[in-house]
Amino acid sequence: LSLALVLTISLTNGGCDDRLPIASHTMFPKGFMFGASTAAYQVEGGWNADGKGMSIWDNITHVHPDFIRTYQNGDVADDSYHLYKEDVKALKAVGMQLYRFSISWPRILPNGRINQINQPGLDYYMNLIDELLANDITPIVALYHWDLPQALEDIGGWLNPDIAQYFEEYADLIFKTYGDKVKWWITINEAWSVINGYGSFAWAPALNLHGTGDYLAGHNLLRAHGKAYRLYQRKYSHFGGKLSMAFCGAMCLPASDAPEDIAAAERCYQFSFGWFAHPVFKGDYPPIMREMVDRNSKAEGRNVSRLPYFTQEEINEINGTVDWFGLNYYTSMMTKNGITGDNPSTLRDTEMIQYWDPSWPSTASDWVKVVPQGIRVLAKKVKEEYGNPLTIVTENGYSDHGDRDVDRIGYFESHLAEIRRAIYEDGCNIVGIAIWSIIDNFEWKDGYTVKFGIVEVDFNSPNKTRTLKKSAYWFQNYIAMHKLIQ
Ligand code: NOJ
Repeated sequence: LSLALVLTISLTNGGCDDRLPIASHTMFPKGFMFGASTAAYQVEGGWNADGKGMSIWDNITHVHPDFIRTYQNGDVADDSYHLYKEDVKALKAVGMQLYRFSISWPRILPNGRINQINQPGLDYYMNLIDELLANDITPIVALYHWDLPQALEDIGGWLNPDIAQYFEEYADLIFKTYGDKVKWWITINEAWSVINGYGSFAWAPALNLHGTGDYLAGHNLLRAHGKAYRLYQRKYSHFGGKLSMAFCGAMCLPASDAPEDIAAAERCYQFSFGWFAHPVFKGDYPPIMREMVDRNSKAEGRNVSRLPYFTQEEINEINGTVDWFGLNYYTSMMTKNGITGDNPSTLRDTEMIQYWDPSWPSTASDWVKVVPQGIRVLAKKVKEEYGNPLTIVTENGYSDHGDRDVDRIGYFESHLAEIRRAIYEDGCNIVGIAIWSIIDNFEWKDGYTVKFGIVEVDFNSPNKTRTLKKSAYWFQNYIAMHKLIQ
């Protein structure tokens, strides 16, 4: 009877009214998938175990311990290299249907190149994938989540055009090894973050070539993605997998109705999400990006634009190389027209000023305010820009310092409500979500003090004990209810 009641209430209201009882909040289209994400360097540990090579994050945290605010590193992390079964148990306990993780390139190819393959590395991911499948959890696998082999960085990393070919070789081995078991692939996670390692001090390798290195690295990331996609089409399409990138950026809400602020927000979108999504959907950089960087380069007296040009052959290779849209969303910013003098160059090229609305709640991450409505605006933008692609929210999450775990529930509840609106009211083709993260882990520059997990990890215990938090139990309920009423 209660189920019938819940259904009646949900259906008569289109399942979209926030004032309804909890069950109606879980109305998603049939088959909608819930899951969670991690990344190799943030959880695996085993930084030099069984023949793994060194990554740029191993290197920078060892050579410059102060690169991380807390002087910590990912040497041991959650020790998922040994404890991956505990992670799968946690996913299963919550009822997750998807697990998005990444493969560490140097764990497979210690010097980045195909001439030396580390078999224990290949075995590790095979075991993880088998464990997931045995538990009815679908893997989504990212080939690159920032831990570049140091050996490749030593020859220029993402600034070296040859890297596209090295990435293709690595992708070839990965597709060949796991292609019959993995159907959802992400080539590169957050290219827009990767470039920060070349355009600023924010990430490894911290080269700070702002306004040049970032554009060049981005260019090679796109070339690498294109090559991996075409390779899959040529050699592995019989596996029937779907490839994407996980896109991120600044979600930009116009500060006012003034046309110049609306235009600034549009530039902000195109210089972040659009920087990578436009080329892979449409073959080249967003026109506004091309125009502004070319114009500024010229004004600086350069003969060559700081934003490289693709050859026609590269355009053909890159154009139309996504089967689905991996959408990472955490926060938004207010955007208005203008230039702030101390901005790093890519922001200077964008000619916008960004700020947070004072009413938006803070989180433990200094770059995240809670702005749930932004994910709906973003999903709609993606729909309009790229012809309503099949979309999975590949990251979304809330950070705290490990305190009460109350606000995390509100964060997910409000973002899921906005996703439902995007689906039911705007017609967006969103088919799943993989939240960040299943477990607390190494949060880059914030070390272990900023926690995104719905499962707590006791980093001081020898076996890194995993304990479900309140938000994990909340999710358990949410997913179970969704399954019941779908
Ligand atoms: C995006 C990144 O992909 C992930 O590695 C990171 O931990 C989360 N955002 C939270 O900052």
